[in-house]
Amino acid sequence: MIHRSSLWLLILLVVNGVWLGSAQVPFPGKCPDVKVVDPFDVEEYLGVWYEYAKYPFSFEIGRKCISATYGLLDESTVSVLNAGISQLTGQPSNITGTAKLLGPGQLAVEFFPGQPQTEPNYLVLGTDYESYAVVYSCTSVTPFANLKLVWILTRERVPSTETIDKAEKILVDNNISQAPLVQTAQKNCSEQ
Ligand SMILES: *[C@@H]1O[C@H](CO)[C@@H](O)[C@H](O)[C@H]1NC(C)=O
Ligand SMILES: *[C@@H]1O[C@H](CO)[C@@H](O)[C@H](O)[C@H]1NC(C)=O
Ligand SMILES: *[C@@H]1O[C@H](CO)[C@@H](O)[C@H](O)[C@H]1NC(C)=O
Repeated sequence: MIHRSSLWLLILLVVNGVWLGSAQVPFPGKCPDVKVVDPFDVEEYLGVWYEYAKYPFSFEIGRKCISATYGLLDESTVSVLNAGISQLTGQPSNITGTAKLLGPGQLAVEFFPGQPQTEPNYLVLGTDYESYAVVYSCTSVTPFANLKLVWILTRERVPSTETIDKAEKILVDNNISQAPLVQTAQKNCSEQ
């Protein structure tokens, strides 16, 4: 199944450079099955999350101090504010969007109005709501290849190893490779 909205998300993230500035991580085969958080308490999930690590590797212009702030617009719609600081210029910037809750742990995030929100492109694979969240997106580009995005989000800008261990266990349980994960710089973020 082709997740058009995921592809849109990839394109938008690259174009906007808010989260990443490089190619995605390709894998052979179709998108594998993963387990989402079910039941999922969207209200508990709201608030600020810091990006601890993500796919893919960013060789070039990076962003640091990346955070995502979620708020409730109505029972099935979440406001999204992604903020970060350019490592090159120190310039803060942000992008806002909305996310539709399509099912437990399954959201469709869009940053441009009119973008379709019918396919989930933001799957919450695990969260305890108060320390970590593991977010996943996979797009089958052909029957033989897929592109994956993985984020480890944490409530604390500098999380404990215990918190990260819990997040990594979610990846192991879902057979998701940790090799492409790149840690996000969260130092000297006071400019924000
Ligand atoms: C988002 O960016 C705008 C400028 O584009 C700025 O005025 C605003 O304060 C920023 N908001 C947050 C919450 O960072
Ligand atoms: C886990 O992933 C590897 C590599 O992607 C694959 O070869 C293996 O079959 C997977 N195992 C399970 C249980 O899905
Ligand atoms: C943070 O800022 C301090 C003081 O400006 C500087 O010495 C240090 O190298 C910076 N650390 C990082 C990781 O940028």
